[in-house]
Amino acid sequence: MSILVNDNYQNLAQNYLFSNIAKKVKAYTEANPDKKVIRLGIGDVTLPLVPTVIEAMHKAVDEMGNQATFRGYAPECGYDFAIEAVIKHYAAWNVELGMNEVFISDGAKSDCGNITDIFGDNEILIPDPVYPVYLDSNIMNGRRISYLAANQENGFLPMPEGVEKKSYIIYICSPNNPTGAVYNKEQLKEWVDFANETQSVIIFDSAYEAFIKGDYPHSIFEIEGSRTCAIEICSLSKTAGFTGTRMGYTIVPEQLVCSGTQLNKMWNRRQCTKFNGTSYIIQRAGEAALSEKGFKECLDNIAYYMENAKLIADVLDEKGIWYTGGISSPYIWLKCPNGMKSWEFFDYLLNELQIVGTPGAGFGSQGEGYFRLTSFGSREATQEAVERIRKGL
Ligand code: MLT
Repeated sequence: MSILVNDNYQNLAQNYLFSNIAKKVKAYTEANPDKKVIRLGIGDVTLPLVPTVIEAMHKAVDEMGNQATFRGYAPECGYDFAIEAVIKHYAAWNVELGMNEVFISDGAKSDCGNITDIFGDNEILIPDPVYPVYLDSNIMNGRRISYLAANQENGFLPMPEGVEKKSYIIYICSPNNPTGAVYNKEQLKEWVDFANETQSVIIFDSAYEAFIKGDYPHSIFEIEGSRTCAIEICSLSKTAGFTGTRMGYTIVPEQLVCSGTQLNKMWNRRQCTKFNGTSYIIQRAGEAALSEKGFKECLDNIAYYMENAKLIADVLDEKGIWYTGGISSPYIWLKCPNGMKSWEFFDYLLNELQIVGTPGAGFGSQGEGYFRLTSFGSREATQEAVERIRKGL
């Protein structure tokens, strides 16, 4: 007789998508040490942190080395200065948030996984294709999962029309990872109305909001009625290049009540019990990234990545390869040429052109036959990848 384990893990794919890709690339580079591989797979930034952030971090490090300004445990839900910086960021979209509604964390991935703690055995509605953490974290909890097909016909923006009216936890990622599709206000309003009518909860992932071009909502809380049905999760990973620095935030409005319980209080209780706060130095970095000066610098970095996206888009145009994204999102979502399947195209690009991308099928069954390239590479690497595609595809 042995201890019992969480059998739900048996239902997961063997490896997490990006670990799987990393393993394949490692095997390839070990077998072909003379080949120069260009990585346009995982959405990992390459530009250094902006000067305003670095300055704030240096200052915070000095404070930690001084008896008078040293800090121990951080408040579990964030220092007031970091929460205020997030609140100010949202004020630009006329969204008003209370100090107790913003929870500072170490990133959107952890919060996406952890938020499942506060929910019972609900049915989950997940767009397909989408960021794989929503699916995997719910499989780990043994949840029933239904899918919302996102495809070329619906512009990769599934809508509630035709969805059976009952209560769900609904995941929405806009701008979408991996397709780059963005919901407009009217479309999001339909989801908010659906959620309020069915007493569902929307988990809105806005990790790519800083890439939005044009009149699209950056936050679900720009939509009337959302405070009674939505939680928003965001991160500075893509906004400020914090993939290795780690700071995010989750917003749980006070009005969000399920089965008579305020979710804000539950999330606070969860975080206070299981999380000891993001480090002081990182929260000062986050505050600096969201300051007027820091954010301008971050937007310059985003503009650089979007020029990379344009280079990739241009070569796909030349080749007559169908794609979308790359405008309000750092990702280009393309149709694999010659009817290839996603993993087939992955192997082809790696073996023939030494370019790494992400197979669309890794984001869901509807992603089969598609492929994602990231614009987060360096300019040199992106240009070289584009040249290889121009000559070799
Ligand atoms: C991605 O490449 O989709 C993401 O950057 C991975 C992540 O955020 O975990």
